[in-house]
Amino acid sequence: MNIPYPVKIRAVWWDESSRRTCWINTLKLPHSEEVECSNDPARVAKAIIDLEIRGAPAIGVAAALAVASYAWTLTGRPREEFYSKALEAVSTLWSTRPTAHNLFHALSRVREKLLASMNAGATPLEAAEAVTAEALRIMEEDIFSNYLIGEHGSQLVPDNASILTHCNAGALATSALGTAEAVMRIAWYKGKKIRVYATETRPVLQGARLTVWELMKEGIPVTLITDNTAGFLIRKGMIDLVIVGADRITREGYVVNKIGTYMIALAAKRNNIPFYVAAPTSTIDLNSRIEDVVIEERNPAEVKYVMGKLITLEEAPALNYAFDITDPDLVTAIITEKGIVKPPYPENLKKIVESKPR
Ligand code: MRU
Repeated sequence: MNIPYPVKIRAVWWDESSRRTCWINTLKLPHSEEVECSNDPARVAKAIIDLEIRGAPAIGVAAALAVASYAWTLTGRPREEFYSKALEAVSTLWSTRPTAHNLFHALSRVREKLLASMNAGATPLEAAEAVTAEALRIMEEDIFSNYLIGEHGSQLVPDNASILTHCNAGALATSALGTAEAVMRIAWYKGKKIRVYATETRPVLQGARLTVWELMKEGIPVTLITDNTAGFLIRKGMIDLVIVGADRITREGYVVNKIGTYMIALAAKRNNIPFYVAAPTSTIDLNSRIEDVVIEERNPAEVKYVMGKLITLEEAPALNYAFDITDPDLVTAIITEKGIVKPPYPENLKKIVESKPR
């Protein structure tokens, strides 16, 4: 599937010649662009846990590709061993990060392919082919979704808009153009003059390190702000709209996204500016209620150290939730590849997920 815009940055991709999963190590950005490739699911799992690969769609795609690349290393094994090892890889990748729905969506699809191949009596070679085709389909669908999200969302962006975003929902979080950043990119490509305010996004600084790098590469005017500045700019009338991504959207319309999103949504509501969430339908989880969603708690060291430097007392307790929850009434609309969803979310999210792709 071709999209009519250039893809200048890839977070994760398939190397056909070596049948390995490749990614850009986002921990090294923006100062160095280092590519890693592997066919070892434990290595890819570690890359996801450590945030070399991060962002909901990107971790889903990377995990699916990791199962496919591992399957090719097992084609010489007896059938039973092939299936048990490939399914074990699915479990390893499943337990990397608990919050983003895309990871479980992608791994469920790959696991289904493996089980269907096993039940049909497929050889390891045939199963490796089937699993690779499915993983590549997941990646291609994500590339196309990025584009469609950008097309739909760009209609919501007025000319000369000042946009606030949080974390990185860009190319570095997906397979191609991003989600929130696809909206900005396509608005920009269509000739709209926009300016973006990017929060630094403590503690891991995805905004400062990744969003700013991406947008500057694109030539889109971007200004870095501290997380604490967002409310002030909104109150001053300097922001026309907020666009963020999501890690999981529940059937009721609760949006789970990078910690700090909720405070921005509250400020947007209070000051009557739109708060948009851009996400593929693979982020929407119709099966769990918000009470069931596991909010990842990460190592407190990420809060206590900034770029390797201790900024508090070594023995200071610190709390490091990676995500927060934004209530549905704070969300103006959710921009998906199948169209723009407005409240009431329980009804309209179900409809959009179950609808055929346009
Ligand atoms: O911890 P991260 O960097 O994986 O968190 C990423 C986010 O919260 C993004 O906003 C979300 O995954 C959407 S990415 C298109």
